[in-house]
Amino acid sequence: MSLVIAIDGPAASGKGTLARRLAAHYRLPHLDTGLLYRAVASALLDEGLPLDDVAAAVASARGLSLTDFDESRLRARDMGEAASVVAAMPAVRAALIDMQRGFAARPEGAVLDGRDIGTVICPDARVKIFVTAAPETRATRRALELAGRGEEADYAAILEDVKKRDARDSARNAAPLRPADDAVTLDTTELDIEEAFTAARGIVEKARR
Ligand code: CDP
Repeated sequence: MSLVIAIDGPAASGKGTLARRLAAHYRLPHLDTGLLYRAVASALLDEGLPLDDVAAAVASARGLSLTDFDESRLRARDMGEAASVVAAMPAVRAALIDMQRGFAARPEGAVLDGRDIGTVICPDARVKIFVTAAPETRATRRALELAGRGEEADYAAILEDVKKRDARDSARNAAPLRPADDAVTLDTTELDIEEAFTAARGIVEKARR
């Protein structure tokens, strides 16, 4: 039977790392859906278009190909903020649904991480995990990640980013950030990566039984 693992959570909660680890462990394909919204934002910025150009954003969303992402550019700090602006547009979200559901429909299953995987994209996923952590912890982790890639990492500015983005992602009408009713919440504030991975595996194993 196919194993779909839906992982959602706020900015820099560590859901991407957990999703990658779970995908490797269960030998499943992984889709970081944040990259889709980041890619749409990046396409608009590259063309010098404003982020509220809905028609251009939808055209770019429809033309996305999962294979030609420049991840280092897409994961830059300013792109997370820009992604959250285009992600609030219902038409952009609608244009990305089939691609995500198609990915989740592989016979073996898949791991998808984002904001609305358990609520909208894969409401029937066998496993749903909502990964969270205190904003300060998330800002520290994101600062380390950016510094590790040689980007400037100002902790106070990153904490502001994280809070602003969570507020926008939670307040929007289109697929707001929230745990699905049947999701298990995993608070990683006090957990390192290994501990969080062990806890997440425990949630998956329990759901499979
Ligand atoms: O890695 P981080 O948690 O900072 O961000 P991300 O997962 O790459 O997502 C970037 C932005 O895309 C988020 O702030 C959301 O606004 C949006 N997003 C979304 O709306 N729905 C998703 N399934 C994934 C991302």
